[in-house]
Amino acid sequence: MIRLSLAQMATAMGGVLLGCDTPEDIFVDGPSDTDSRLIVPGGVFFAKPGEVTDGHLFVDAAIANGAAVVIVERDVRASVPQIVVPNVVDALGALAKFVVASVRAAGELTIIGITGSNGKTTTKNLVATLCATLGKTVAPRDSFNNEVGAPLTMLKVESDTRYLVLELGASGIGHIKRLTDLASPDIGIVLMVGLAHAGEFGGVEATVRAKSELVQGLVPGAPVILNVDDPRVAGMAELATGDVLWFGQTGKAQVRASDVEISLAGTSFMLHLPDGSSARVEFKVLGEHHVMNALAMASVGVALGVSLDGIVGVLESVVRAERWRMELMGGTGVTVINDAYNASPDSMAAGLKTLVQVAQTANRTIAVLGEMSELGEYAGEEHDRIALLVVRLNIDQLVVVGTGARRLHISAMNEGSWDGESRFFENSDDAYDYLVSFCHAGDIVLVKSSNSAGLRFLGDRVAEAFA
Ligand SMILES: Nc1ncnc2c1ncn2[C@@H]1O[C@H](COP(=O)(O)OP(=O)(O)OP(=O)(O)O)[C@@H](O)[C@H]1O
Ligand SMILES: [Mg+2]
Repeated sequence: MIRLSLAQMATAMGGVLLGCDTPEDIFVDGPSDTDSRLIVPGGVFFAKPGEVTDGHLFVDAAIANGAAVVIVERDVRASVPQIVVPNVVDALGALAKFVVASVRAAGELTIIGITGSNGKTTTKNLVATLCATLGKTVAPRDSFNNEVGAPLTMLKVESDTRYLVLELGASGIGHIKRLTDLASPDIGIVLMVGLAHAGEFGGVEATVRAKSELVQGLVPGAPVILNVDDPRVAGMAELATGDVLWFGQTGKAQVRASDVEISLAGTSFMLHLPDGSSARVEFKVLGEHHVMNALAMASVGVALGVSLDGIVGVLESVVRAERWRMELMGGTGVTVINDAYNASPDSMAAGLKTLVQVAQTANRTIAVLGEMSELGEYAGEEHDRIALLVVRLNIDQLVVVGTGARRLHISAMNEGSWDGESRFFENSDDAYDYLVSFCHAGDIVLVKSSNSAGLRFLGDRVAEAFA
């Protein structure tokens, strides 16, 4: 964090400072966190009340790790200065807003905001890699994209930071606006709108509205990068106050991919830029769906004036999207594609199509699937649809894990899977035993589920068994 006095911090957060007589003279510049285990000497601990536990119970642990100041909702008689605020999450946002505004005032910070139902983290990593070639860059760790993760990321901005890349997540109306109110981006990207988190949103139309909050929350006149192939995204152009830069695979796209070739080695495509230049890209991130994320990143490159060579160089330097996103794990003849960080109907379909596209005739295709959560009233039909896709794609073996996913198995059977082509297991251990005896050299195994189903660890274990 930039160097701030305790007085400045308390004012920025609208809090009351306790336990310090000289607040103008005590300065803090350590990193902030809500997890006491991650606090380092000189750090700022935000005691966030959570659903499971309450950060106030960990104030002492944070101080033991060296917290210089703690942000709390009540006086906990801490042995270091405390700033008491009405709401810790709001205070976190307020401090982040202050820090970003302070650095931005010098005029050398560019903020890039990324949203969409799928591909945010992947694109965030690509854009951060690009920006890091241009100047000091701050980007979220993992998928830090909500009212806690985004401001924690913003607080990492220093006076010499040139690029701040933000992943903006939402599971409801107003969530993205809340984040753009803290730091309105200079460049916005909307990747696609799908059914991810649709249950919480209350339908895909609400999702469209929620994602369009990014376009409305940009700095006035800011360029916006939109997926021309997704009509729900393309419609957001109406809300843009600056230029629209279109990316996609169809004719109207200004940043476009063509001649896409898919294999286990990655995806190769021709990249075309608005100035008419083009080059072949050997993109190692697996799956055709990631080409769109690559194009979104290339569009940022165009907006920032990076050369074609520069863009291609960065795209080719990235070896994986992120842990557990289409992560390729090789072994003795058995290949595991571990994509079980999360699952929505779109990403499930994309993963299954990739499984089939990368397989050669000699390879058996095995899909190990768990529940897609957060779909609300869409859950039943969407699990049916995926089961149908598995059958239609002629995937050799379906392995369904967990009671929440059982409908995948039932629907696949109804759809004509026979003779054990679909198997159901209550838990990962049983599925593991089956997979270890069933798989042999030449098999390609896709493992995919929502985070809560935990299949990513099953994917890791299966990969290890054949390592
Ligand atoms: N354009 C796309 N269409 C369909 N699936 C996609 C697309 N881009 C990425 N995915 C898949 O979506 C899943 C999530 O990817 P990623 O983590 O990058 O997305 P995210 O938007 O950050 O998700 P979250 O909402 O969990 O933060 C992965 O399985 C990935 O392969
Ligand atoms: Mg994410």
